[in-house]
Amino acid sequence: MERVGGNGPLAGIDSRTVLYGVFGDPVRHSKSPIMLNRAFREAGVNGVYAAFHVKPEELGDAVRGIRALGYRGVNVTLPHKVEVMKHIDEIDEGARLIGAVNTIVNENGVLTGYNTDGIGYVRSLIEETGITLAGRNILVVGAGGAARGIVYALAKHNPRSIWIANRTKERAVELADDFKSYGDIAGIGFDGISAIGRSVDLVVNTTLVGMAPNIGESPIETDWLTPEVMVSDIIYTPLKTELLKRAEAIGCRVHGGLGMFIYQGAYAFEYWTGLPAPVAAMRETVLHSMQP
Ligand code: ATR
Repeated sequence: MERVGGNGPLAGIDSRTVLYGVFGDPVRHSKSPIMLNRAFREAGVNGVYAAFHVKPEELGDAVRGIRALGYRGVNVTLPHKVEVMKHIDEIDEGARLIGAVNTIVNENGVLTGYNTDGIGYVRSLIEETGITLAGRNILVVGAGGAARGIVYALAKHNPRSIWIANRTKERAVELADDFKSYGDIAGIGFDGISAIGRSVDLVVNTTLVGMAPNIGESPIETDWLTPEVMVSDIIYTPLKTELLKRAEAIGCRVHGGLGMFIYQGAYAFEYWTGLPAPVAAMRETVLHSMQP
């Protein structure tokens, strides 16, 4: 591990600097570069992280570039998270089950893919709220790619049950089926929510309903919520979604999505460097960049 002492954004870049980045299309909106460069500075790592606009037809070449140029690690974002799996050497068990990779580690030319989205979400939920997931009844709203990673990560914490509720019920049932060996997991339609409502301890919205600019929308009805339920949303623009506002008005504890972004990056940082991620500094940088 090469460490530097400088503090400025580009201080200490030299011929030993290790390179990192994010591949996406589009990618210019990504806050990963400011967050990870702050993390490197904070931890004294001699590394630099940049954003690469990689078109789908160039993904294979871009991945070969990781090996050729000796990048230590890369994050992969939309639309490449599934396709990139074809181009790397090893895939971690969780990423294989989820069917998507968002973090690549280059170990002497061998590229291994991980998925830190779901585990990042759960670490943020636990660290920010103190919730114990073991024995809880969890309602996951949505059955897309984000839900997959989150259901996988939640199931590892031994909840009593996970219901997956989706607008298209069949997708929820399919997702539940894929993970049935991991616990008591069932798929339902939105019309099934009120029937289970009373036993739910935690609601997690994994859809993008309510994300800016549609800030007045909630993915589900909230009239069944009671103050004992914790409500969590993976959206972080806005930091407090309509769903969370309604839940808060009922007296529920709420948890927003910014932490998921921070901790998926924190895991990537830890896989690449072996150091604990400076989470507070990372959060401060991202929050600062979001100020109007
Ligand atoms: P992601 O990778 O972000 O999860 P996705 O795989 O396209 O994206 O999944 C989107 C999820 O949001 C799905 O669960 C989708 O429900 P359907 O399977 O019924 O399409 C859900 N979703 C999208 N728009 C929605 C809406 N207006 N109301 C409720 N759910 C919605």
